[in-house]
Amino acid sequence: MYYNSIIETIGNTPLVKLNRVTKGAKGLILAKVEYFNPGNSVKDRIALKMIEDAEKAGLLKPGGTIIEGTSGNTGMGLALAAVAKGYKCIFTMADKQSKEKMDILRAVGAEIVVCPTNVSPEDPRSYYSVARRLNSEIPNSFYPNQYDNLSNTAAHYEATGPEIWEQTEGKITHYVSTVGTGGTMCGTAKYLKEKNPDIVTVGIDTYGSVFKKYKETGVFDEEIYPYLTEGFGEDILPRNVDFDLIDHFIKVTDKDGAIMTRRLSKERACL
Ligand SMILES: Cc1ncc(COP(=O)(O)O)c(C=O)c1O
Repeated sequence: MYYNSIIETIGNTPLVKLNRVTKGAKGLILAKVEYFNPGNSVKDRIALKMIEDAEKAGLLKPGGTIIEGTSGNTGMGLALAAVAKGYKCIFTMADKQSKEKMDILRAVGAEIVVCPTNVSPEDPRSYYSVARRLNSEIPNSFYPNQYDNLSNTAAHYEATGPEIWEQTEGKITHYVSTVGTGGTMCGTAKYLKEKNPDIVTVGIDTYGSVFKKYKETGVFDEEIYPYLTEGFGEDILPRNVDFDLIDHFIKVTDKDGAIMTRRLSKERACL
């Protein structure tokens, strides 16, 4: 048995028991290990779905250029699919993202435009605005816009949710996920809650991001401030975030996130 292309290997990632890092916690805690995807993150799933849906809708045509604002991981998924399908890629990235991520995207053929982190999303220099401008200037280009493109949520509703339901034999009681664009959390949560409305969903947010306060008070926080953590928390309200599907938010600091990431890498053999 073989796959015709690396993009056919996206999804069906393993569910692995967390042992050491959860010592002292009650219950069985499992991690859906998304770095098993060919681009090494959960974002491969949405990249492929956004491209396939755009092809079907006639928004992306042969020889086209994909332009996206990314913290790196959606970019990697898009770049892999673009290589397989013959598209060019231009990614706008905030200057806080690691140099390694930019280098690896360049290595798979993408052009990177680095934009300042510390400007508002409406500022013409922001990575959102630059992606939009390039899309309007470059002929035959497609801007997936992972924040507002509902193919993002759909990818998780169609695959991640059913995978988790089957892997846990329907016994899952709590689902915890970071919230960036909201696609992972809300697509998966929608599927799981349809299967069992008692499943509790917990969104992980960062200090400096708007989600937790918006969920709890309806107030869009004007005191957004920069943080180092990459990929989740936002200074906007993406269409893919459906607050009704997220029961609670917990915030993590850059420091706690970094320390736990190191522990997970060091103790990886037994996660
Ligand atoms: C590795 C990784 N995990 C999680 C997220 C956040 O997931 P979502 O955008 O689906 O909310 C991101 C977003 O960039 C990411 O890159």
